[in-house]
Amino acid sequence: MLRAKPAASVARPLILSSYDEVWSLLDWDQLLSRLRTVMAQFSASRKQPPQIAHGIQKTEMVHIAQPIRSWIEIPQHSGSYGVMPCFVADGDLLSTKVVSSYAKNPTQYSLPSHNAWVMLFDGKTGVLKAMLEGASITAKRTAAASALATETLSNKTYETLAILGSGVQARSHLEVHQRTFGFKKINLWNYQRSTADKLKEELQSGRDQALYPEVEVFENVQDAVKDADVICTVTMSTSPVLLSEWVTKKDVHINGKSTQPRHQFSYDWVTKKDVHINAVGAPRPTWQELSADLMNRGSIYVDTEVAARHESGDLIMSGAEIYAELGEVFNKTKEARWKQLTIFKNLGMAIEDAVSADIIFQKYHEKN
Ligand SMILES: NC(=O)c1ccc[n+]([C@@H]2O[C@H](COP(=O)([O-])OP(=O)(O)OC[C@H]3O[C@@H](n4cnc5c(N)ncnc54)[C@H](O)[C@@H]3O)[C@@H](O)[C@H]2O)c1
Repeated sequence: MLRAKPAASVARPLILSSYDEVWSLLDWDQLLSRLRTVMAQFSASRKQPPQIAHGIQKTEMVHIAQPIRSWIEIPQHSGSYGVMPCFVADGDLLSTKVVSSYAKNPTQYSLPSHNAWVMLFDGKTGVLKAMLEGASITAKRTAAASALATETLSNKTYETLAILGSGVQARSHLEVHQRTFGFKKINLWNYQRSTADKLKEELQSGRDQALYPEVEVFENVQDAVKDADVICTVTMSTSPVLLSEWVTKKDVHINGKSTQPRHQFSYDWVTKKDVHINAVGAPRPTWQELSADLMNRGSIYVDTEVAARHESGDLIMSGAEIYAELGEVFNKTKEARWKQLTIFKNLGMAIEDAVSADIIFQKYHEKN
């Protein structure tokens, strides 16, 4: 019988289905560095006009292709299902993440709300190289993008970090922020207090407990964010949890001695420092996590402008203006307004999954 089989066979793809294995292969430092580069490339390539020859767009000039993700809503199960393809010319990365978000999973079925797989293809041949558990990738790359925003857009006072939400993203945001900046104090809030208490216990009894010297759980958001330098909102809320009047400038006490030999004096004063917010939840057009007046007060940074205008309820429903993509700040085409209230609306990009998958694939082969 004639079988329609290609003349040459392709190698079996690498399949890694363990959350823990994928997590451990994705090195934070490499991830931070690669994300910075690819976000800068994305924002630069978006600004370049298409190369036209004889009236036809030259497809070989594509640096990064990343369409807006496609979502299917499954309202009867409070779920949604998204597909995120992309191509990155630097490294010939071709990948697709399929991701589901089911809000009721944790409480109804004791399952994670987000489940995903990332498929990594060879961009030169289109052959599948790897299929990787994707919830771990989502947790790490999202937090890494927020950490890059904190580094770039905050006033660099790393005293108090407030985390609103106590799920997967709360954990990955805590880990990367503490590894990178070492905040002195962590303020936790969750709409179900017991979940925040459990997170505190986990942080202070786990292997990395030295990263979390002081952790306090708050009954309400207002108290949790009162003295924060950086706030990360990582909830599944569909309506605002963070209001403008609760986000105030913080008094910072500065004292020291002048080192000028002829004018030696001591100084001691109080100044006010503004806050940086990483807004990670509310990824759907009708959801909000930040109040409209808070959105309109800050300088808004996004990962991708086109997707943010399409997907972010915080932006759509507040009518707030986007100031820049984070990649534009990395490219130095837009400024980091770190003296003001800055808000990074982090929606996640397919190219973040692609570089993550590439790091994991390479690390796996170095080890095996
Ligand atoms: N930007 C990105 O790329 C990206 C990636 C993954 C997840 N997310 C978003 O980040 C948020 C957190 O994701 P996660 O994986 O940590 O989810 P999770 O289910 O692990 O945690 C969600 C947290 O929100 C709390 N919560 C649930 N319903 C709430 C409500 N109505 N009000 C306030 N809090 C509520 C839960 O108790 C839990 O602490 C979600 O909105 C998710 O869609 C964004």
